Amino acid sequence: MTDQTSTLTADGTAPSPESDPQWWRQAAVYQIYPRSFADSDGNTIGDLRGITERVPYLSALGIDAVWLSPFYPSALADGGYDVDDYRDVDPKIGTLSDFDEMISALHAAGIRLIADIVPNHTSDRHEWFRAAVEAGPGSPERARFIFRDGLGSAGELPPADWTSIFGGPAWTQVPDGQWYLHTFAKEQPDLNWENPEVREDFKETIRFWSERGVDGFRIDVAHGLAKRLPEQLPSQAELDRLPWDGSHPTWDRDEVHEIYAEWREVFDEFDPPRSAVAEAWVGADRRPLYASEKGLGQAFNFDLLEAHFDADQFRDVVTFNLELAERAGSSSTWVLSNHDVVRHATRYGLPPKAAHEEKAGTDWLLSGGVEPRLDAEGGLRRARAASLFELALPGSAYIYQGEELGLHEVADIPDEARQDPTFFRNTGVEIGRDGCRVPLPWSSEGASFGFGPARPHLPQPSWFARCAVQVQDGDPESTLNLYRRALSLRSRLRTDEELEWLHTDDAQVLGFVRPNGWACVTNFGTAPVTLPEGEVLLSSSPLDDGRLPGEATAWLQT
Ligand code: NOJ
Repeated sequence: MTDQTSTLTADGTAPSPESDPQWWRQAAVYQIYPRSFADSDGNTIGDLRGITERVPYLSALGIDAVWLSPFYPSALADGGYDVDDYRDVDPKIGTLSDFDEMISALHAAGIRLIADIVPNHTSDRHEWFRAAVEAGPGSPERARFIFRDGLGSAGELPPADWTSIFGGPAWTQVPDGQWYLHTFAKEQPDLNWENPEVREDFKETIRFWSERGVDGFRIDVAHGLAKRLPEQLPSQAELDRLPWDGSHPTWDRDEVHEIYAEWREVFDEFDPPRSAVAEAWVGADRRPLYASEKGLGQAFNFDLLEAHFDADQFRDVVTFNLELAERAGSSSTWVLSNHDVVRHATRYGLPPKAAHEEKAGTDWLLSGGVEPRLDAEGGLRRARAASLFELALPGSAYIYQGEELGLHEVADIPDEARQDPTFFRNTGVEIGRDGCRVPLPWSSEGASFGFGPARPHLPQPSWFARCAVQVQDGDPESTLNLYRRALSLRSRLRTDEELEWLHTDDAQVLGFVRPNGWACVTNFGTAPVTLPEGEVLLSSSPLDDGRLPGEATAWLQT
């Protein structure tokens, strides 16, 4: 890789964190799913005070920023991604003043805050949607959403047979007979981004949180906002056949970047400019458009998350994504787990995706499905190796709460306790994402393993006791301490956004070195291998007579 923007000043020193407008380029960002992090008041769900109380934990972990999943008022039809009011805090999890306290505590610890913005849809309890239902067909209130008349002699059929991402129909009827579009659950009506009022209002929301100190934004479904629906709607089968080349009626349309160009102007009203990262599940060739400096600035790359634990795949993903990021003038992002996918310790303990999919006939990336053949120990070993690999890469690393504890997916949540709309809209097909959203275990005992004073909103398995923070804290070999050491070394060793692949004779071994001699070697095979010359700084499994054991990563100073 050549000459990418550096995060160092001209004299080679790191700029002070407060003043560095490029802080996000190589940040270690920790995702908090607030309702499952820490419950301070015993109402069964995690809250903002719970986060404030745990700032010392976050600080000791060594992260640069927190990405906070939605914390707005919500009926939780989709875990908070159904927003009632974009400029307030859900009373179930706190108040605006709790938010201010939380952000002050984070900032005092040198940790930045990225807020999740959900612009594709509101909730059906949002005042705009209530007004739209009240006001009737043809009204300006309805024009903020996507309403259509139905088909059939009395409009009793939906305008098209489209299915929502969570399963079930994507059009729902209101009492006067019209239908509205919802790409996700029926409680999440899609906004009409051709409506100027919608556009202005979101800019105000960005200003509102930026003024409260938010440092950056994660944009939910960033590739879905712009839609252009023809008078005669295509069928779902026809829609599926249309290319995603900027002209698709509902996804990844070129005009979406006009919205982000306007947002960039708002981000730049602040000093330092607010950062943004797009959640855009688009073809790799279209990702740089979202990551452009004139737009959001950075885009999630889920390629590592979708790859098998395999040397060739990891190498190809890294090479390709560093090139893509460079093309956009951005830095790459790396993700192994988040709140939508099976935790990576479990993924790597399951049979490879293709075989599993064939068997289960389902997309396990978006389901909590766990094969009975889970190799829990092997999965965790590979997860630790993959995490060290990820944390040594140039670019920013997104860490999902609980992965630093090596948590596995919770597979056996009873049906009556499940919350994910995917489960309800697909009964029996997809069990949903609750298995990666179970409240964290902080201590080895108690009704909620230290999550809070009461039983948590999703049941925790008994094996959480072994994974608790309190247990791992004192164990030098624990996954928690591995992450702490890795993050501390990473912030010390972080250097220019470049890497050079190391030559190895073994196709199962992947190694790279950063410009300052910080090297990372991963053994994807099972037999121990000899490490290159250098001081070993850290390894994901204990070395075997000085050699790197199978399915392990080591960092070295060469
Ligand atoms: C992506 C979010 O990550 C996911 O959790 C949510 O269900 C959908 N967007 C809809 O907002």
